[in-house]
Amino acid sequence: MPSANAMTDSISSSHTAAPAHHDPLGSLAASICFLDGQYLPLGQAKVSVLDRGFIFGDGIYEVVPIYFRRPFRLDSHLARFERSTREIGLASPLTRAGWREIIDTLVARCGAEHQFIYWQVTRGVARRDFAFPKDAVPTVFAMTTPFARPGAVQREQGLSAVSRADERWLRCDIKSVSLLGAVLARQYAAEHGADEVVQFRDGRLTEGSASNLWVVRDGRLLAPPRSHYILEGIRYGFMEELAATAGVPFEVREMTLEDVRSADELMLTAATREVLPIVRLDGAPIGTGRPGPIYARLRAGYDAAIEALRSPS
Ligand code: PDD
Repeated sequence: MPSANAMTDSISSSHTAAPAHHDPLGSLAASICFLDGQYLPLGQAKVSVLDRGFIFGDGIYEVVPIYFRRPFRLDSHLARFERSTREIGLASPLTRAGWREIIDTLVARCGAEHQFIYWQVTRGVARRDFAFPKDAVPTVFAMTTPFARPGAVQREQGLSAVSRADERWLRCDIKSVSLLGAVLARQYAAEHGADEVVQFRDGRLTEGSASNLWVVRDGRLLAPPRSHYILEGIRYGFMEELAATAGVPFEVREMTLEDVRSADELMLTAATREVLPIVRLDGAPIGTGRPGPIYARLRAGYDAAIEALRSPS
């Protein structure tokens, strides 16, 4: 009989030893992140296994694009973050000035022209109990990653998507780190050779796994209503502004799968994807199967807003 220790050793070595080449962070390991008051390399940032983010997915996050080393629409992201924390009864541990300072520091240390900042706050480390702990200190984490903006292939050829029933929880308006529903949805797209899912709740269009969706019909830009069934993207309001500037009528409307299939154009928006055309749904073309004219006008407005962040030379 092996000793208890030997058992433990053999179990731990056979279950946790990673292959010698296992290097999940790769070059990211050296990039600077922020964790609980300190700047340190990502590869050295460690959180307790009892962190409620790890145990329950009990936390809130944000993703903000940085262009020409300047945050894009940061105030809106900060406001959404504060709303999300309020909705889950988590006191935001930093002021807006505090977040700005962390973001500015990470952006400067990374140095890349375009980046995106990811930050999250969890309810902290505590004994495993579903109800909120009384004295836990929120865990604060932020990192930045160089941002390869969507390139010519995605812009000019467009994306493909597959439709799917929306199986996520009912508070999709909260930007929670509990993202299993989104993970399963995106994996479904990947397994079907598609870039994104187009989700429907009770037959009504909601959103992608990590993007908002836009339909064009008869020259009008249509979007599902803001509600707890979708996350109101920071690009939701921005697209309304772009449409107004481009003279494209905008309308909020419930839509069915048939409405989407028969649309003239379909698009998605997200911090990391900006605005991109979806030209195929479930293997069939949307409209002409090519990026459409309304997309081109909105994309031009989007690019101009980014270009406005370039420092005057
Ligand atoms: N996701 N809906 C969902 C479910 C999302 O996860 C996102 C963004 C959006 C678009 O929001 P915004 O325009 O503010 O990026 C809509 C981010 C990019 C992510 O989780 O990585």
